[in-house]
Amino acid sequence: MTTAGDGKPISTIVIIIAMQTEALPLVDKFRLTEDPDSVFPNGVPWVRFHGMYKDLQVNIIWPGKDLHLGVDSVGTISASLVTYAAIQALKPDLIINAGTAGGFKAKGARVGDVYLASDVAFHDRRIPIPVFDQYGIGARQTFSPPNLLKELILKVGKLSTGDSLDMSPHDETSILANDATIKDMEGAAVAYVADLLSVPVIFIKAVTDIVDGEKPTSEEFLQNLVAVTAALGQAVSQVVDFITGKCLGQL
Ligand code: ADE
Repeated sequence: MTTAGDGKPISTIVIIIAMQTEALPLVDKFRLTEDPDSVFPNGVPWVRFHGMYKDLQVNIIWPGKDLHLGVDSVGTISASLVTYAAIQALKPDLIINAGTAGGFKAKGARVGDVYLASDVAFHDRRIPIPVFDQYGIGARQTFSPPNLLKELILKVGKLSTGDSLDMSPHDETSILANDATIKDMEGAAVAYVADLLSVPVIFIKAVTDIVDGEKPTSEEFLQNLVAVTAALGQAVSQVVDFITGKCLGQL
């Protein structure tokens, strides 16, 4: 099989985005259309938007609305499932996991900042038995393309992932141990699956709320979601423009 890893230009990318509000501006920007014949199993809410953007086959995968509750299927379970299914169906050269995140002001994060995650780890998988502890944390370095980082104005920081929007004292201890600047609900899960299947992932995360600030997280998150999504969309567009025509080794 020839892939972009063999010095061929990247031809297919998958962008995994958990929330509809985050996904739709990029669907418009790249002029993508929803797939009428889903590549996914019948009955799942997962949505694929796709089309050609310049020389790239661009796929945005949104896990869709929960079938029972009608809200976005956020979190690690849906993120893992769609990452697996999208890799199997579309064989991408590269994945971008784009979304919003909480930021830590003690680490320099501000609302509206856009980060490329250099490392990912989980903060809510505590297994205090030797080696299982490290398995639970699942820390790994990401694919952090040096030329892309030189070219684009992105902050770089470590990302910690868990299935809660809020932060329990246990989570806080683990996040500190992970040395994280930002906190999300999907990144480390996408990284785990993509690593299993040897697909590189770039994590682009925009800060909607300050976790170590004064405001309640859910209020601040909802207040800033739409505005911060615009910054996220701009950053992802720049990353995609940068990727076009290049092979993985040139990023
Ligand atoms: N996404 C946006 N803000 C977040 C937070 N504080 N924690 C987890 N995921 C988030």
